[in-house]
Amino acid sequence: MKGVILAGGLATRLYPLTFATNKHLLPVYDKPMIFYPIQTLVKAGITEVLVVVSGPHAGHFIQVLKNGKEFGLDHLEFAYQENPKGGIADALSLAEDFADNQSIAVILGDNTTDADISSEVKNFKDGALIFLKKVPDPQRFGVPRFDPKNRLKIVEIIEKPKKPPSDYAVTGLYLYDNKVFDYVKKCDPNFAGRGELEITQVNNFYIQEKKISWAELNGYWLDAGTFDTLLMANLYWAKKKGFVVK
Ligand code: G1P
Repeated sequence: MKGVILAGGLATRLYPLTFATNKHLLPVYDKPMIFYPIQTLVKAGITEVLVVVSGPHAGHFIQVLKNGKEFGLDHLEFAYQENPKGGIADALSLAEDFADNQSIAVILGDNTTDADISSEVKNFKDGALIFLKKVPDPQRFGVPRFDPKNRLKIVEIIEKPKKPPSDYAVTGLYLYDNKVFDYVKKCDPNFAGRGELEITQVNNFYIQEKKISWAELNGYWLDAGTFDTLLMANLYWAKKKGFVVK
């Protein structure tokens, strides 16, 4: 399986930090944020990776990641998303040639986790597999509504619901077969009212086709897209490395 890291966008929620560089290159303790999703993929045995970048600092990535050899990657390539406000599904559309009809593991560049997804990657056959995590603030995320008779079954995912139908977040880690690129083409920018092609709509297409399954992400997970969560991610990874806050 190949890996795709989505690292575009303007990250306006982090202005003025992101005036200087792209969000995914900001520090999370002793590493740029994007090192974490790269390590998650490498740990799962994925060594061919595409990084989708956009925005005014797209050129900064190559200085930091170079050819990816130091992470254990065999192949690292970049794609440039012309519209930095196009959304996650728009960024993913740029991975079609790279995927070359294979399945892909997709990670959002601001999601840091110490979970090991290698067994899901190894056992993945087709459809979509999404990773869920119980959170105290589901309204910030895509949220699944489970079938009340069968919790293994998701009947719908709602993007940033005011009244979340469960206390699970859809994390930014996804496994997809090649149909994902057909679904991306069917996305509507008005789906969640923010003018973006939403990954949540892609996942709902898989639900309609009864081709989605889910696993609970086993480990720490945080998306570091706001000042508070960026700080929390820094503290978590610093403590994990033995740093004690005095
Ligand atoms: C995106 C997705 C959302 C998902 C989240 C995970 O949200 O749209 O469904 O739960 O990533 O990090 P965004 O960061 O675009 O607000």
